[in-house]
Order: sequence, then structure tokens, then C-alpha cells
Amino acid sequence: MKQSRLDKFISEQTEYTRSQIKVMVKKGEVAVDGVTAKDPGMKITAGKNIVTVLSKTIGFSEHTYVLLNKPAGYVSSTDEKDGRTVMELVPENLRKKGMFPAGRLDKDSLGALLITDDGELAHRMLSPSRHIPKVYIVKLDRPFESKYINIFESGVELSSGEKCLPARVKPVENCDKLAFVELCEGKYHQVKRMFASVGNHVEVLMRVSLGGLVLPEKLAFGECMELLHKDVENLFSETDFDDFCARFSVSFSAFLINK
Ligand code: URA
Repeated sequence: MKQSRLDKFISEQTEYTRSQIKVMVKKGEVAVDGVTAKDPGMKITAGKNIVTVLSKTIGFSEHTYVLLNKPAGYVSSTDEKDGRTVMELVPENLRKKGMFPAGRLDKDSLGALLITDDGELAHRMLSPSRHIPKVYIVKLDRPFESKYINIFESGVELSSGEKCLPARVKPVENCDKLAFVELCEGKYHQVKRMFASVGNHVEVLMRVSLGGLVLPEKLAFGECMELLHKDVENLFSETDFDDFCARFSVSFSAFLINK
């Protein structure tokens, strides 16, 4: 098991900075196995020692979670027979046996893809009855029509006859060929087929959030970052689609505008 400094461990697993942790240790607000910590630099073993801050236990996971900003041209698979896989994009230092993409993005799709060795978490995210909400930004062939909003909200019927769960859709302000879509399920090519059913065509599709976890703007296509415990918890936090669109329309449109 991994040994680390107490302040480093807490700052990696929570929002507290190392300097805030030093102050809290000084005030006697941090404990290791029930004993008040005196030294922020003391060595602890993550997963073995129980660390509490203000009497709250700091969670720790043995699993690895990697967020990839998927570029086009890679399949969401672990099997090299399928072609170039997203696993090739995970840097050596983050690779672990048993890792797989938790969910799928089409070969030509872009954006947020979680790669992990935690099967239980993947199941919680993608449970058959209801996935965590996922937001996509799409570039359309034809201008967005306001009728899509009600059609998506009432549950689109795909050309195959399959009925989709209610979904949210909203055009990006000042850009009538860009729109955000929020889904809580993951049928095959779902977003593309939903727009096809209303007579439009998705030219580019990028997933920009998984639950409450937003794809960081600084993560370029093809880049990965390791998620910490606090980020993983964000997957299951409450989300507000209207607020999301208002906050991120400028930054995510910029990703698609030249695609
Ligand atoms: N919907 C699609 O059509 N494609 C994806 O990659 C993801 C959602």
C-alpha cells in the first residue's frame, strides 16, 4: 500500500490546500486513527490509516480513474483487434491491469471518457435503468429548430421504433448550428439517431460532462488526467442543465467551431 505525507494525502483527496491543512493540524482538527496529528509531514499509509478532518473521514480508493479527452479515430474498447483503442492514449504511469473505458463514445466522437479498473463504479454510472446525466455539444448540419426542445423532452422515437427517455436540448446562443444535449441513457449512436429522427444530422459530437464532472478546458484532445477521490464523487453530484449551458457555452463552442 502507498505511503505518503499526511498533508499531501489530504490535499489530493479533498479541496483543502497544503497550507490550509497545516493550519488545521496546528488547531488539532486532523487525526490519524483517532489520535490528533501533530505533524503535517507525518507518514501515513493510504487505505490502512483512518484520516479524519474536523471529525469527517477522508475517503480513499485503491482504484485508478483516468479522464481522457478523446480525439477522433480511436475506439472505446480494450481489444486491439477493434483497431486503435483509447487505451493507447493512457500514459504508462497511469496504466493498471484491468482498466477499461466506462461507457462508449463512437470512433469519430470526441470528449470526456472515463477509464478505470473500478467495475462497481462503472456499473453505478451506467446502470441499465438510468445512467448519470451526460452532456454533449453537437455541431449540426442544419440550423437548430425550437421544436426539438419539446420533442426531446417527450422522449424521441428512433427510426428503429425504440423510445428514448426524456432528454434536454438547447441551442448555443449566437450559433444556430451548435446545441447542448443532456441524456440519462446510452443507446447505440443515440445522439446522432435522435437528431436524425428530427431531420437533422450531427456532424461533430463531443461529450463535455459526466454527471457533475465537467471536462476541464485545459485538457487537450488526446490528453488524460488522473481523477482523485473528490473528482470521482463529482460524477454523482447534482447537475443543472440550464446553468451548465450558460456557464460553458463559450468555452465548449470554441472546441467545435473549427472542427
Ligand atoms: N451518442 C452518439 O451518437 N455517439 C456517441 O459517441 C455518444 C452518444
